[in-house]
Amino acid sequence: MSSAPPTALLLYCRAGFEKECAQDITQAAENHGVAGWCRAAPDSAHVLFHPAQAGDLAVLQKRLAFAELCFARQMVSVSGPLRLSPEDRLPPLLDAARSLPGPYSCLWLETADTNEAKELSGFCRKFEPHLKKALSETGLLKPDNARLPRLHVFFTDSTTAYAGISRPGNSSGWPMGIPRLKMPREAPSRSTLKLAEAMLEMLGEQERAQLRPGRRAVDLGASPGGWTWQLANRGMKVTAVDNGPMDDALMASGLVEHLRADGFTFRPRHAVDWLVCDMVDKPARAVDLIARWFERGDCRAAIFNLKLPMKRRFEEVQLARAVLQERLSRLEGSWRIAARQLYHDREEVTLAVLPIA
Ligand SMILES: C[S@@+](CC[C@H](N)C(=O)[O-])C[C@H]1O[C@@H](n2cnc3c(N)ncnc32)[C@H](O)[C@@H]1O
Repeated sequence: MSSAPPTALLLYCRAGFEKECAQDITQAAENHGVAGWCRAAPDSAHVLFHPAQAGDLAVLQKRLAFAELCFARQMVSVSGPLRLSPEDRLPPLLDAARSLPGPYSCLWLETADTNEAKELSGFCRKFEPHLKKALSETGLLKPDNARLPRLHVFFTDSTTAYAGISRPGNSSGWPMGIPRLKMPREAPSRSTLKLAEAMLEMLGEQERAQLRPGRRAVDLGASPGGWTWQLANRGMKVTAVDNGPMDDALMASGLVEHLRADGFTFRPRHAVDWLVCDMVDKPARAVDLIARWFERGDCRAAIFNLKLPMKRRFEEVQLARAVLQERLSRLEGSWRIAARQLYHDREEVTLAVLPIA
């Protein structure tokens, strides 16, 4: 049996956000002149986007940046589904590996991030060494070259899989698109992982370099201090604004000033480098607040959370981006706006507004 080259984009997402992920890819593809259709079963935590015209997948592979997508955790160009015999699953997978544009830097066996798929991950762990060994014998695995595409095998059940590739630099660098971040022992809340993930996944190297000792930040809605901890841990001076208490050990660092004030009316005495905001409020109110900080020149860059409503969640993110874009366009300077539903985000997305040098 011979396999076909990639025909679709497979996107992983948070379970329950398949519709938004489908809207996201459909819109992004359309922006690059590509029409297509999606298959997205509710709560399946993945979406398949099929370009309508032959050759259009290549257009997307060339032009579509993974960072354009908000609701996708991973983006893989796939062929399949492949039907695998329980007696010998290897032949169709090896065929697929030969027909995809290898060689590959690594092999990732994956499933959707759902409770039902958890059982499958045990199977994947057992099967992986067999497939790896067989692949190595074909000479298609070259682990020394991290710039080569990764080979993904995404199981929907133990006898059905999609085989595909992702390109480093235009996809998530984490298996299943899930950053495995360690909870820092000293951080006051688990929420710290959200900002850690945003810094890691949404900022470029030069932007991350601006999170350094001597830089100043304001954290709106800071209590008990998980986000503030991320900033202070990088040696930054932080003004933490919240009526709630801040963690004692964090305050003892000497880098944090705690103000019991309303985050919606607070203004810093001097402009700061970073504004971060984790207050729970209506998206329109949060966006207006962030826009005002830039309009007054009170911050250079911002990272903030947008709580999503139950309905029209994709539209709400689009609206937030459009409003920010429009208000920033009236100012001197230019910024890029990134929006992402991070692994550590639940009914929310994270936005970053970053100056373009
Ligand atoms: C999700 S919690 C923040 C958690 C924090 N980022 C962390 O990592 O520990 C939201 C916080 O926003 C604060 N908050 C809500 N409305 C506020 C307002 N108008 N001004 C200041 N803080 C506010 C709440 O008191 C609460 O502590």
